[in-house]
Amino acid sequence: MKPRMLYSVEDNLSKKVLSNQQSMHPNLARVSNKHKDLIKYQNPIGAETARILKATQEQVERHARPLIMDCGCGTGESAIRLAKKLADHTIVAVDKSSHRLSKAKKKYLPLPENLIFLRANLPDIWLYAYRHKWNIKKQYLLYPNPWPKQEQLMRRWHAHPIMPYLLSIGQNLELRTNWKIYALEFAWVAQYFLNKKVEVHGWLPKSPISNFEMKYLKSGHTLYRVNIVKDD
Ligand SMILES: C[S@@+](CC[C@H](N)C(=O)[O-])C[C@H]1O[C@@H](n2cnc3c(N)ncnc32)[C@H](O)[C@@H]1O
Repeated sequence: MKPRMLYSVEDNLSKKVLSNQQSMHPNLARVSNKHKDLIKYQNPIGAETARILKATQEQVERHARPLIMDCGCGTGESAIRLAKKLADHTIVAVDKSSHRLSKAKKKYLPLPENLIFLRANLPDIWLYAYRHKWNIKKQYLLYPNPWPKQEQLMRRWHAHPIMPYLLSIGQNLELRTNWKIYALEFAWVAQYFLNKKVEVHGWLPKSPISNFEMKYLKSGHTLYRVNIVKDD
């Protein structure tokens, strides 16, 4: 006989992050030191991606509104909320998964006119935005996959060679996660690159902004937020 499930699938409860890593990764400083020089990440951006990003830039510039980016927007809930709340801003919501993006586009018709969904690889868009001097007011990085196994360090955004670019574009970068170690590492790397104090705070929103935030809140997870505001 099959064991009785404690929760129905609809409850969509999620397990807390389990990891064989119990504190900040011992190699983080060495990896960050290697990435400190911006020049280290020079991956070419494909012609088709560059064409799409150029068209997006032109669209953003035509509207001449402050730009907000939702990086790894998944099924689009946060992008829709941001677009409705900030009607005088342009929201560019990026994900690599066409499946998730098409779900988002179908579910929220008609889409707010100030929202652009974009299928792209985040390092490409961050590099392009850096090279083309995009004027980004705020970037949200909401619940990226934590890659919690110790051996997965290099898959976390803060250990990726794109990190110095990500930190150098835009005036404000906000990360949210349900894994404290991810938040601590992200803040540590940001502090190292920006040479300014970056803190981790607990996060308990009045209402969830995204699908994962809702899932984690329902599941009783503690959430963490790193909000980096540039001085200039
Ligand atoms: C855990 S989900 C979080 C989705 C959403 N932000 C939320 O809070 O509900 C992470 C998302 O990041 C996207 N993602 C991961 N790596 C990416 C990359 N290299 N480029 C673009 N999107 C990526 C995934 O497709 C996925 O939709």
